[in-house]
Amino acid sequence: MTATYPSLLLVGCGKMGGALLRGWLAKGLNGRQVAVLQPSRSVADELTPHGVAVVASLAELSADFVPQFVVVAVRPNQLAEACAPLKDAKAVQGAGVISIVAGISVVRLQELFPQASAIVRAMPNLPVEVQRGMTSLFAAPDTKVEAKGEVEALFASLGKTLWLGKEEQILLTTALAGSGPAYVFLLAQAMAEAGQTLGLSATDSALLARATVSGSGLLLDKRTEDAATLVAEVAVAGGVTEAALQSGLQQDLPRGLRTALEAGLARAKALG
Ligand SMILES: NC(=O)c1ccc[n+]([C@@H]2O[C@H](COP(=O)([O-])OP(=O)(O)OC[C@H]3O[C@@H](n4cnc5c(N)ncnc54)[C@H](OP(=O)(O)O)[C@@H]3O)[C@@H](O)[C@H]2O)c1
Repeated sequence: MTATYPSLLLVGCGKMGGALLRGWLAKGLNGRQVAVLQPSRSVADELTPHGVAVVASLAELSADFVPQFVVVAVRPNQLAEACAPLKDAKAVQGAGVISIVAGISVVRLQELFPQASAIVRAMPNLPVEVQRGMTSLFAAPDTKVEAKGEVEALFASLGKTLWLGKEEQILLTTALAGSGPAYVFLLAQAMAEAGQTLGLSATDSALLARATVSGSGLLLDKRTEDAATLVAEVAVAGGVTEAALQSGLQQDLPRGLRTALEAGLARAKALG
C-alpha cells in the first residue's frame, strides 16, 4: 500500500538520512515533496532523477517549497553549523522538526528550532532502507497528537515504531537498535571468518554466513515464538548446535553484548 507522505526537508543525507529517503521513495514518497540540504550536494546524481531538490543552501530552495517536517540527519558535531541557517529561515517557519541525531535532547532542539511547530526525536536503524527498520520515538511534551501521528506514520512506513515514555530511554534504544545492525553484521563477518579459518573458501564461507544471518532475521520476523525458543529449535539435545553453543558462546555472547550496550549507552550520553 502506498503511504501518504508530508513534504520533507532532509538536512544531511549520509548513511542514515540516505537510508530513510531511499526507503520512503521506494514506498511511494514523491521526490518532488522532498528537498535535501547538504552543502556538498554529493547525493545530487542519485536523487535528482527522483525529482528531489538537492541544495547546498536554503537560498536555492524554490519559494513555493514549504516543508511540513524538517528531518535533521547530520552528525552531532555538525548539528550547530547545519541548524544555524534554519533558525530564522522563513521557508521552515511552522514546520515540525524530527531529529535522528544521537544524544541530542529535546531541550537542545528547542533552542536550535524555537519556531518549530513540533519536536520529535527519532532513532531509526539502517534496515529502514528495506522497510524493515526499528524506530524509537520521543516527542517534546507539548507536541500535538496530530503531529505525533504524522511522524509515526512516516516511520511506520519503514518498519516498526516504538514511542518511549521517558526521553532518557532513547539513549538505550540507540545502543540497542540504532547500533544493533552493526552487531548483526559483525556476527555475519565473524561466522564467515571462522568458517574460512576452519577450511572453507572465503567466498563460500561469506555466502553461508550472509544467507544464514539474513534468513534467520526473516524467520525471526515471521515466527511468533521468542528468540530463545528458536535457539532451542535448532539446538536439539546431543546435536551439533548444542555442542557449539555450549563451547562458551552461550555465555560469552550475552556478556559481550551487555558490555557493548553499556559502552554505547555511555557514548550516547556523552554526545549530548
Ligand atoms: N548510521 C546509522 O546507522 C545511524 C543510526 C541511527 C541514527 N544515526 C544518526 O544519524 C546521524 C547521521 O549519521 P550518519 O551515519 O548518516 O552520518 P553521515 O553518513 O556522516 O551523514 C552526515 C550527513 O550530514 C551532511 N552534512 C554535514 N554537514 C552538514 C551541514 N552543515 N548541513 C547539512 N548537511 C551536512 C553530510 O554531508 P557530507 O558527507 O557531504 O559532508 C552527510 O550527508 C547521526 O547524528 C547519527 O547519530 C545514524
